[in-house]
Amino acid sequence: MQYDVVVIGSGPGGYVAAIRSAQLGKKVAIIEKYSVLGGTCLNVGCIPSKALLDSSEHFYNAAHHFADHGIEIPAPVANLGKMIGRKNGVVEKMNAGINFLMKKNKITVHNGLGSFVDKNTIKVTKTDGSEETITTQQVIIATGSKPTILPFMNYDKKRIITSTEALSLTEIPKHLIVIGAGVIGAELGSVYARLGAKVSFVEFADSMIPTMDKTMGKELQKSVKKLGADFFFNTKVTKIENSGEEVTVTAEAADGKPVEIKGDYCLVCIGRRAYTDGLNLEAVGVATDRGKVVVDEHTLETNVKGIYAIGDVVRGAMLAHKAEEEGVFVAEVMAGQKPHINYNLIPGVVYTWPEVASVGATEEELKAKGVAYKAGSFPFKALGRATASGDTDGLVKVLADTATDEILGVHIIGARAADMIAEAVTAMEFRASAEDIARISHAHPTYMEALKEAALAATANRAIHS
Ligand code: FAD
Ligand code: NAI
Repeated sequence: MQYDVVVIGSGPGGYVAAIRSAQLGKKVAIIEKYSVLGGTCLNVGCIPSKALLDSSEHFYNAAHHFADHGIEIPAPVANLGKMIGRKNGVVEKMNAGINFLMKKNKITVHNGLGSFVDKNTIKVTKTDGSEETITTQQVIIATGSKPTILPFMNYDKKRIITSTEALSLTEIPKHLIVIGAGVIGAELGSVYARLGAKVSFVEFADSMIPTMDKTMGKELQKSVKKLGADFFFNTKVTKIENSGEEVTVTAEAADGKPVEIKGDYCLVCIGRRAYTDGLNLEAVGVATDRGKVVVDEHTLETNVKGIYAIGDVVRGAMLAHKAEEEGVFVAEVMAGQKPHINYNLIPGVVYTWPEVASVGATEEELKAKGVAYKAGSFPFKALGRATASGDTDGLVKVLADTATDEILGVHIIGARAADMIAEAVTAMEFRASAEDIARISHAHPTYMEALKEAALAATANRAIHS
């Protein structure tokens, strides 16, 4: 079988690259080692986690907030089996959607492990052990990432788990110990805390979501604390052990004090590593750096001509929409076009409640670079729409250049932040000033008014409602 383009991996990077290549007239195949398409994001990442976040949020609101709205119901019961079943249904529906897109774009799907024979030949090993060989002019490596887990963590997939198992638990933990209060910890910790689990976060850094603007982590901690969670910051885990139904986490605090926490489940979410196992990169000499495939910044081509790489397996944010942008980019480069990605403006979102969303520089980054900036903030509690709905936690922070007023960063924690950030991304793509946002009419009453007010606050401190 001879193709123009073969994509290895069917996550948001790979399947989008395949579709764009097909749109550009190429004969395309995609290789996926699992029986379903969609990669981490669809099967054990973005989509199933959001399905459980939504279900658990409905449960939490029914238990704690409906009465505030005058809706009186008996105490609701969480049926985790049904929630997981619904989540599986959502994933299956979207698996079918990707199958449809492959057919529509005449992309051939090969199920099996793809490995290089040479730069134009890929062997596909199917689950029954049979093999087929396909040839191609160009290859896109889109093999994604896997959870990082250290040997002393004794990962047993039953009690000591990663996000993959946490998305399919058969019972609500009594006490879930979460190692790493980053994005996965915050999201999946919230799911089980809302369903009634006691959740303890053990985090190496000094706050939740420590790579985002510091105000976000501080505010998020306040909200997650309301779910009954507790936090061990500046704490390094040294051992995790499971004895039957009890998990013991041993750690060391910054001052050297030993810490021991006992629970019934331990979720390890300390980051993810690029995944190239089984690809046989050695056969073609594709260079890697600390496990990541090295690519040319202007073309996403590896050191081997005709082999490209995208998504989590290369440098940069491990996000589905970043992988998708690179999927389109690489297909267009391979077709001789000159596309562009603005890596500074890839938004980051944490789907907790309230949501956290961010684009551009953090205050800490601007300080470190010595950039003169102005900051304007606006709290959700001063917003009519937020007060009406009862979602008053959070704030919007706009950072703008002191001299030019260009927006350098926007950080939002609050209801619907995930959708609100799009206005900031669009404005920043057009290099808008804070004054531009401040002068645009925003419908009333909406959450988006908080962005306008924060922009007003950033320009001569003239917010109207605070
Ligand atoms: P992947 O999605 O990892 O896909 C790679 C595919 O390649 C896999 O299907 C794998 O089986 C296949 N593969 C690997 N090796 C081979 C081989 N040799 N042969 C054949 N096939 C192979 N990002 C967001 O932007 N928003 C979110 O809300 C979000 N939520 C997340 C929640 C969780 C719990 C997790 C774990 C991740 C989340 N992410 C989220 C991150 C997102 O899932 C990844 O950034 C994204 O999936 C990366 O896409 P990719 O195409 O690079 O790789
Ligand atoms: P992360 O990098 O977001 O967080 C890991 C956290 O673990 C960090 O805060 C780090 O300080 C801490 N840590 C590292 N080693 C530790 C140790 N030994 N002991 C205690 N703490 C330790 O990684 P996470 O949460 O695993 O997620 C992986 C990636 O998946 C994210 O970086 C993100 O790219 C992607 N993702 C994106 C989501 C989204 O966009 N909403 C949702 C979930 C995942």
